[in-house]
Amino acid sequence: MKPFYITTPIYYVNDRPHIGHAYSTIATDVLTRFAKVRGRPTRFLTGLDEHGLKIERRARELGKEPQAFVDEMATPFQEAWKALNCQHDDFIRTTEPRHKERAQAIFQRMVEAGDVYEGEYEDWYCVGCESFKLERELLEGNVCPDHKKPCERIKEKSYFFRLSKYGPKLLEFYEAHPHFVAPQGRYNEVKSFVAEGLRDLSISRTSFKWGIPVPGAPEHVMYVWLDALTNYVTALGGPAEPGEAPLYDRFWANPESQVVHIVGKDILRFHAVYWPAFLMSAGLRLPSQIQAHGWLTINGEKMSKSLGNFLPPVPLAEAVGVDVLRYYLMREVGFGYDGDFSHKNLVARYNGELANGLGNLLNRILPFVEKHFGGVIQPLDEPGELEIELREAARKAAFEANRHLEEVLPHRALDAIWELVAFANRYVDRTEPWKLSKNGDERALARCTTAIIEALAAVSVMAWPFMPGKCDLLRAQIGLPPLEPEEGACMWPFEPRETVAGKKVVKGEALFPRIDAKAEAALLEKLGVKPAEPAAPKDEAPKAKLADEPSKLAEPEGGYITFDDFAKVDLRLGLVLSAEPVPKSDKLLRLKVDLGEAEPRQILAGIRQRYAPEAMVGRRVVVVANLAPRKLLGFTSQGMVLAVGDGDAFSVLGVEGEIAPGSRVS
Ligand code: MSP
Repeated sequence: MKPFYITTPIYYVNDRPHIGHAYSTIATDVLTRFAKVRGRPTRFLTGLDEHGLKIERRARELGKEPQAFVDEMATPFQEAWKALNCQHDDFIRTTEPRHKERAQAIFQRMVEAGDVYEGEYEDWYCVGCESFKLERELLEGNVCPDHKKPCERIKEKSYFFRLSKYGPKLLEFYEAHPHFVAPQGRYNEVKSFVAEGLRDLSISRTSFKWGIPVPGAPEHVMYVWLDALTNYVTALGGPAEPGEAPLYDRFWANPESQVVHIVGKDILRFHAVYWPAFLMSAGLRLPSQIQAHGWLTINGEKMSKSLGNFLPPVPLAEAVGVDVLRYYLMREVGFGYDGDFSHKNLVARYNGELANGLGNLLNRILPFVEKHFGGVIQPLDEPGELEIELREAARKAAFEANRHLEEVLPHRALDAIWELVAFANRYVDRTEPWKLSKNGDERALARCTTAIIEALAAVSVMAWPFMPGKCDLLRAQIGLPPLEPEEGACMWPFEPRETVAGKKVVKGEALFPRIDAKAEAALLEKLGVKPAEPAAPKDEAPKAKLADEPSKLAEPEGGYITFDDFAKVDLRLGLVLSAEPVPKSDKLLRLKVDLGEAEPRQILAGIRQRYAPEAMVGRRVVVVANLAPRKLLGFTSQGMVLAVGDGDAFSVLGVEGEIAPGSRVS
């Protein structure tokens, strides 16, 4: 099986870890665990970027020596990843001797390739980005568009790397590897940046000392980005001759190894342009893929210390549970796109998808196994039509979730897994085990309970990369051992199913106890989040408006309706969880919409010509929730999504901001 080497960016230690760093590290951990479940050899690297002007200045501001400062700052990062159950295989710090020596070796290779020359430059430098800026990139007053601070004019002697020479080679490489950068939009961005022409890059500094000395020229330190990027190779013991560094041989030099760098969109250029050029120059292999994710805002606002919403991940994980936080981050944010972290939404998803969805499925079924079969799961030798459908739904979820995880779309994988959870809950509604229990129909009850437990077993494997702790607890309750992936053995639940018959269920504590309004208020208070403004009384405002000046309004065609008539329409805010085209229709999309109920609703909407399915996922839309269900092309639509306009001007009605699914529109 192909080895899988995955890395996070190495984080600057000028600050403590925040939720944005946690997002990257959790995504990397999820992908590593997924590869492990598939039986692949894996290696997960993270670490810290400890050199450069930014760190040196921060240390001095605090009256500390840079080394003492970075040593102190390393601990909160190591503790955070442990607390978030992110199991990296290595943690590299760029001040370690093992890194310094090998980073110098890479520099030396670039010199030997004839790609380094001495020169002098004068240019704008942003210390926040640790990067030179082109004049055209700057805002008025030479302000960096990312850090909103003026750049510094720097004039100094330095070594340059012949980046310009690599432009055509890079373009050729991108053409040959259309998935080198994901998502696609970012790949196009990188290509056009390179196509515009590359300038040679200054790769050393002489005006400060906090860095790795340039080999043979110790008055220079290596440019911090060159130093930092090489960590991906140095941590494996490379560059090295075959046989010298087994990890390097297995995970980097080996052309079979899949090397994936997870990075935020802001540092894509360094990874997709500079890093491959450095590697080409040093004669080393290139990574397989750079996966760029978006940025998180917090409750709709940019995260910043001045706004007081800098969100450290550990207290949050302690308050809501590590696995819940991991699940929420992976489900809420479409990988590759910007997303919002909202406390309200976290609770809404928790209640809707974890407590009412997965937790409830388990709670609904175990008591029957205990009551009728002494806790022993019965064989399912003669599945009926409904059980066959459920098994088919599990098989489909396994294929889809696998595909999405291979394509690094963890949010889509969770959609597929939760489709199965919803399907299984519907199966319970249809088979009504409580009636079977009352009537003493144990044959049917055995079929039903085992079918559900089989589905739960499949979910416990597929959701394990996201929520390893909770999934092992779930497995314990259905008599299965904790998941312990082994190299070479694929455990992904394609087929055959894990055997559950004969195992004994052990009912434990509720996996996801519901968070009611009181518990939610206490949780938000604990986390220092302000509660939302109380809503105005519902019926007063519209009545008053109509009463003011009724005579001036021309009576509409068809006459007025009363407020009570209007109030009959139950309009709700829905969060679109998934969308797919309806076969044999060029108009309809089949949406799964979360209305804050036990299960998402299936709603068919005639919007396919305007909206690609993926453009609908994550939108908050307005739904008529009490419209009688209707069958269209074999699917039942349980509501209607409102839209406005026709022709070119067409839009689904939505709302901005993080309003909880199920909120009443009034
Ligand atoms: N040290 C460099 C990376 C060197 S990798 C060879 C660096 N460090 S950083 O600490 O500033 O940022 C690390 C990562 O955190 C980046 O991928 C960045 O995109 C990510 N994030 C920082 N703020 C973020 C959010 N608000 N949301 C999501 N990710 C964010 O850059």
